[in-house]
Amino acid sequence: MSTMSEQSGTDLDQFRPVLDRLGGALEELAGYVDPDHGGWTRRVLSEPYTASRSWVRDAMRDAGLTVHVDEAGNTIGVLPGRRGSGPALATGSHTDTVANGGRFDGVAGVVGALEVVHRLRETDTRLDSDLMVIDFLGEEPNEFGVSCIGSRAIAGTVSRDYLDHERDDGLSLGSALQQRGMDPSTVMDMAWAPGRISAFVELHIEQGPVLERVGTQIGVVTAIAGIERVIATFLGRADHAGTAAMADRKDALVAAAEAVLAVEQIGCAGEQATGAAVSTVGRLEVEPGALNVVPSLARLWTELRSPDPGWLGTARRDVVEQFKLIAEHRRLELDLDWLNDQDPVPTAPSMQDVIAVTADHLGYSWRAMPSGAGHDSAHIAAMAPTGMIFVPSRDGRSHCPEEWTDLADLGRGVHALAATLVRLDRRGSA
Ligand code: GLV
Ligand code: MN
Ligand code: MN
Repeated sequence: MSTMSEQSGTDLDQFRPVLDRLGGALEELAGYVDPDHGGWTRRVLSEPYTASRSWVRDAMRDAGLTVHVDEAGNTIGVLPGRRGSGPALATGSHTDTVANGGRFDGVAGVVGALEVVHRLRETDTRLDSDLMVIDFLGEEPNEFGVSCIGSRAIAGTVSRDYLDHERDDGLSLGSALQQRGMDPSTVMDMAWAPGRISAFVELHIEQGPVLERVGTQIGVVTAIAGIERVIATFLGRADHAGTAAMADRKDALVAAAEAVLAVEQIGCAGEQATGAAVSTVGRLEVEPGALNVVPSLARLWTELRSPDPGWLGTARRDVVEQFKLIAEHRRLELDLDWLNDQDPVPTAPSMQDVIAVTADHLGYSWRAMPSGAGHDSAHIAAMAPTGMIFVPSRDGRSHCPEEWTDLADLGRGVHALAATLVRLDRRGSA
């Protein structure tokens, strides 16, 4: 077994991943997709997702990990450390996708972590701490309108309200979890004790254009954007589209159209003022949805994101105010259902340092940057010092089938992840 009190770039060089194996794992996992969707689709709790997670369990075992699935459906593999007890180091990400998504979002951090384990074992490197590799359950916003099921459960922030969110057919998230053998009350009450892990590092694709544009190999994440999500329903009145005079209508879709523009304006102003704010209406439902009926209902799934908590608060108030004005002006009713909000989360400065110093030792260029995307790390950060390593995304594309990261780029991220974990282990904690 090698012991390294100091890790030079040369010592750390041995953890360079085997790219063929890494690429093969990506390829295999990409085989589990929903045939009814385009791109790479593995929605949480769906059949292909469930099948893919048995691939994950097998891959964890093949890498030499002891595997279990916890009370919230997180798949956890453990590589026992020399010390035998005490806080573990942890890494991981998620393997669910958005509908019509890509092959790398989340998957990179899971197969990357498995490659790290392979390299540790192949180099006879025994860590002092246990190393946990986690495939968190359901990171992406799901059909119940909420996200990060597994990491929230670990952080102890799954509430009854959260589990009561329903999908279109009225099934609640809690019932859906129950149907799959999970106990909702345990999911709400399974928070990890403080000190269970000493640090968490997540490898992820950037999902934006910065690293590629500036030609930098590694992103050291400084903060994860906060997210405010609201489902806004404008309720008007269905009328005959041929006979209802324009002035008499209570057209919910026209109100929604104004609301979409208002949301865009709020994001544009925020981006200009703070440098990092965005706003999106990602889904619009219209009822009754007929060519010849004035729409009686329009539902907008809206989100606001920024690493700046001040802007998020103001933008949330702006959305409420503008939507109310639109409804009033058009004599409609308005219902606002705010979903699980997520405060902006800074990563631990100590973790940023160790990742940056490690990248320097490996000879990789890096830059500090915030994440506009949400991550399980935002929840795990409440449990232990947490850091994130980004690798470039081609053309900045993500959440679409074109999402791509070259294997060589991903390989540098995996190498940085391995070396960061080794450094953290040798120094005891972050
Ligand atoms: C997750 O990918 C998110 O940022 O919504
Ligand atoms: Mn995603
Ligand atoms: Mn992700």
